[in-house]
Amino acid sequence: MRREMELALGDRLKELIDAGPPPASGPFTPLDPSVYTDRDVHRAEVAAIASSPVAALASSELAAPGDFVAIELTGVPIIVSRDREGRAHAMRNVCAHRGATVETRESGSARIFSCGFHGWSYELDGTLRSVSNADLWSTEPCTRGLRRLACEERHGIIWVTADADAPTESVAEWLGEGVDGLLGELGVGEMVHHAATDYDLQCNWKLLTDGFLEIYHLKYLHRDSIAPYFPANTTTVGRSGNHFVNWLPKNRLVKNLTEQARDDWQVLAHLTGAVVLVPGTVVQWQAGHVELFSLRPHPTDPTRSIARLTMLVPADRADETDLWDRNWERVNVTIPDEDFAAAVDVQRNIAAGAVDEIRVGANEHMLVDHLDAVRTRCAALDEPAGVEVTVG
Ligand code: FES
Ligand SMILES: [Fe+2]
Repeated sequence: MRREMELALGDRLKELIDAGPPPASGPFTPLDPSVYTDRDVHRAEVAAIASSPVAALASSELAAPGDFVAIELTGVPIIVSRDREGRAHAMRNVCAHRGATVETRESGSARIFSCGFHGWSYELDGTLRSVSNADLWSTEPCTRGLRRLACEERHGIIWVTADADAPTESVAEWLGEGVDGLLGELGVGEMVHHAATDYDLQCNWKLLTDGFLEIYHLKYLHRDSIAPYFPANTTTVGRSGNHFVNWLPKNRLVKNLTEQARDDWQVLAHLTGAVVLVPGTVVQWQAGHVELFSLRPHPTDPTRSIARLTMLVPADRADETDLWDRNWERVNVTIPDEDFAAAVDVQRNIAAGAVDEIRVGANEHMLVDHLDAVRTRCAALDEPAGVEVTVG
């Protein structure tokens, strides 16, 4: 199956390479820069992200029973833990008694979670374990534990939905058959965490996504880093449900596809692929390993975001540490210093009132499509359950 998918992708890329980048199919699209600053738009987007699965951690970051990590998603403090049976759980890191933070460590191993304020304790899945001096506290027994959040492991990632009242949706449903199948074929679920880091950025989260949705910039912004490895302006553009899947061949793949027999094509080994999941996650296939971007907007400020970057590598090659360290170093130079820096630069000019209009080229139309996809997601979650949503 994987080989068939690889060859079909090779056919598509070869066609693109032979034909060359297509000319513009229409005019540019004017865009009001307020889409990156408007507080009402931001409020709706934060609600949509809070109601969607977010790539909280790599499954391998909770390797053993009792392991936990404390995170924050859309302003909600969350504990992600693994219980003694190996199941992952997510719950608000907020005590059921009077609202104190229960786990104050960033990560570690726990037998139970215990609140420092009055000593209430909780099991690894958030169930209430004990109320201190229960006979003094109330005549009514208390059974309320930590508020549980939807949490599912799929494709080697622990997906958490921060809004406890969000409509129930499995990760597979949200990904859709196309993306779910693709991540399966790529073997993302067999990958393990190599490294992760958070970037605190002064820009709207969508400006960070935009960098994965067009490659017009590659030849210029990445001139001194990765541009020499890729043919300019050569990418497939694809939609899968409300998500985006784009493939960028490397020069080595161009050579492989044009000079060698189809049976000898090694497409996935010389290819970058950006799977942009709406809203807020990018799974970037990087010629055999994965860079996972979780774009986390500030809960109230549209001009601030955290971008969490995690590198996942094949489990059976995880010990090739030097190789992965070199790749980690490269991605930490290219994306933050170039793509993210460009996003922060544009946001600064918007904040100065110096950007009257953004002009998105026909070759960059996926930026506009992405804005539509985000609006579609916001509208779908805004509708009461059972009501059909129509978005023009
Ligand atoms: S607030 Fe946690 S025990 Fe009182
Ligand atoms: Fe880029």
